Amino acid sequence: MDIERIIDELHLYEKKVLKALEKLEPPISPEDIVKSEKMDIKAVMSALGSLESKGLVSVHKSVDKILKPTHASKKYAIKGLPERQILQLLSKEGPLEISEIMKKSSLDKTENKVAIGWLMRKKWAKIEDNTIKITSEGEKSLERLGSDEILLQELAEKGQIKLSSLSDKLKKAFKLLNQRKGLLKVKKVKEHEIHLTDKGKTILERGLEIREEATQLTHDDLKTGRWKKLYYRGYDIHAEYPIIFPGKMHPLKRIIEEIRDIFLKMGFTEARGPIIESAFWNFDCLFQPQDHAAREMQDTFYVKNPPETKLPDKSLVEKVRMVHEDGGSTGSEGWQYKWDVEIAKKSVLRTHTTCVSARFLLENKPPLKMFSIGRVFRRETITYKHLPEFHQVEGIVAAENVTFKNLLGILREFYTRLGFKVRFRPAYFPYTYLSTECEIYLPEKETWIELGGAGMFRPEVLEPLQVETPVAAFGLGIERLAMIRLGIEDIRMLYQSNLGWLRSLPVCP
Ligand code: DAH
Repeated sequence: MDIERIIDELHLYEKKVLKALEKLEPPISPEDIVKSEKMDIKAVMSALGSLESKGLVSVHKSVDKILKPTHASKKYAIKGLPERQILQLLSKEGPLEISEIMKKSSLDKTENKVAIGWLMRKKWAKIEDNTIKITSEGEKSLERLGSDEILLQELAEKGQIKLSSLSDKLKKAFKLLNQRKGLLKVKKVKEHEIHLTDKGKTILERGLEIREEATQLTHDDLKTGRWKKLYYRGYDIHAEYPIIFPGKMHPLKRIIEEIRDIFLKMGFTEARGPIIESAFWNFDCLFQPQDHAAREMQDTFYVKNPPETKLPDKSLVEKVRMVHEDGGSTGSEGWQYKWDVEIAKKSVLRTHTTCVSARFLLENKPPLKMFSIGRVFRRETITYKHLPEFHQVEGIVAAENVTFKNLLGILREFYTRLGFKVRFRPAYFPYTYLSTECEIYLPEKETWIELGGAGMFRPEVLEPLQVETPVAAFGLGIERLAMIRLGIEDIRMLYQSNLGWLRSLPVCP
């Protein structure tokens, strides 16, 4: 960054701190700046932080200790440490037995013990024939104080001392005193010593103008024209900023919501159905013969518990049986086999959402437009293309004059609103005639992929449900749409909570 720009972007506080650093005698601490500039410590620290990040100052951090006297040490500073008091007693009285010392000294019992201990340790006295006598070292000490005693007096005088400010001798004295209980209060403190860097010096040489900054541009400033006189600090639009990952909807959920929104806007009503479904609703009432391949164990999840699901009204079950066996009154021949109600009772995890449409037709009279979105289950091995669980959007339109062409129109409208190009191919489903498969176009790959089925429900489906109008129906996969949208090749991405990927997606696509 060039110097002019740095100067332009300096905050008032930063300028003040720089000026203080120019003027003060090193070593300079933040407290020194607080005093000289009459600034608040928080402002100084924050200015120092940003000056440091711009490389204008360097801050050396170190740990120091603050020493303060205790109540006891203030007392000893006047009267002398216990060993000094006893030394003086011995000098007055001559050698004494321990019991005599106890009697004659003005110290309490523990202090006397401490005193005798330290007399020995400092070699001020020795024990001979049960009595305590001053040594020659002790005699000398009567004339002068030890460095621990000097420190104690200084502490009592000054109230507090920084360890780093002590001479080596007194530092040793501190160690000695600190071994003793109750003589010192010691607090660790962090120290900051601030230095100007060469860059900082260059800036000061250029000269800094300290003037009030406008922090806001108000309505009034604009109206009165005062803004022309105000001084605004430059902004660094390239400054680093923290990367934040706001919460957002999961991409699969997002496309589901989008689909829901499209159908609601197209005037469809939303319905739901159970995930654990009877084979009856999942297969039989959709005219899917009981020996149909899709009903095999290797394709469908049969549920152990509950093994059976309640069937609807007997009359509906009976009609479905007839339709399967010989077409009933539909004019069709049916599938020509013996229909088994036990097979229809079995519980399955629904393999498609078409059963929701069938249930809806039983409960509601046309004209109607209904859609449902939900999870469906198939026994698939998990691969990049297949999951045993995925989502479908299903829908029906039932009314007197609904045609297959209307169905194609609805599907085209839906995919267009989602932003895809669609085409239709003939297909086969047991429950529809005419039937079609929708394919959407992938421009990057220049191919079409199949996304779902649709058709006009057959009379074999509608008669037992007592629906008298044509019904256009469709069922479309959702995961593939999501994959195309998100440009992913592996369907598992949608279910793996890959944080890196999820974070990389836009919050508002
Ligand atoms: N249920 C079919 C499937 O899961 C899709 C389908 C085809 C749904 C035709 C329909 C339809 O409603 O009419 O593949």
